[in-house]
Amino acid sequence: MKKTLDEHAERFSEAASTYDDEQDSAAYCMCVRDVVTHAAPTSRDTVLDLGTGTGAIAFELTSTADRVIGRDISTGMLEQAQTKANVEHVENISFAEGRFREPNIDSDTDIDIITSNFAMHHLSDDEKRDAIAVISALEPRRFVLGDVMFFGSPNPEEPFYDPSVDDPATVGTLVDALTDAGFAITDVEFVHEQAGVLVAEQ
Ligand SMILES: C[S@@+](CC[C@H](N)C(=O)[O-])C[C@H]1O[C@@H](n2cnc3c(N)ncnc32)[C@H](O)[C@@H]1O
Repeated sequence: MKKTLDEHAERFSEAASTYDDEQDSAAYCMCVRDVVTHAAPTSRDTVLDLGTGTGAIAFELTSTADRVIGRDISTGMLEQAQTKANVEHVENISFAEGRFREPNIDSDTDIDIITSNFAMHHLSDDEKRDAIAVISALEPRRFVLGDVMFFGSPNPEEPFYDPSVDDPATVGTLVDALTDAGFAITDVEFVHEQAGVLVAEQ
């Protein structure tokens, strides 16, 4: 991890009020679209969105899922998400503090699908592996991960990410962690040589 969780949380809280207006890169928008498409919850499903931020993925899934739960470390991002839920009267969504490795889910809540978009790359590769083990232990039938990830060798002249705060993994590292945790990879979406979506099922 290049920054502590508290540092990441503070950084995102400071940016929370303008975050939605600034997410207009083609790669980000394609990842959002692909994560939502592959998550494909039914009306009986509970979805957990990790690193939910202001709820870009979570809100998209409320029309088809029974219930969507968003977890994040940034109070500022969570406040933005909760305000949107209140203003738009979205009743089957809830937000609270939670992190990849401690998602803050009651033991009596069954999670059917887990999503995460553009958040896991803040963890080191070892931490990603621990997070994926925690995700697997929640026993979702599907985990859809959209994120910064390297399909080849990133061109140092064209960083798609900020090396001072981001720590992306190669696709191979993520696939190894997912399969070691018991997932089978059922789809890979190439969005950009440094961004993509992995669909994992168990
Ligand atoms: C770039 S934003 C993405 C938000 C949202 N998923 C989206 O697609 O717009 C990354 C989010 O991950 C959160 N985050 C970073 N590290 C986290 C962790 N260890 N556990 C949970 N959330 C984390 C940040 O607070 C931030 O809200």
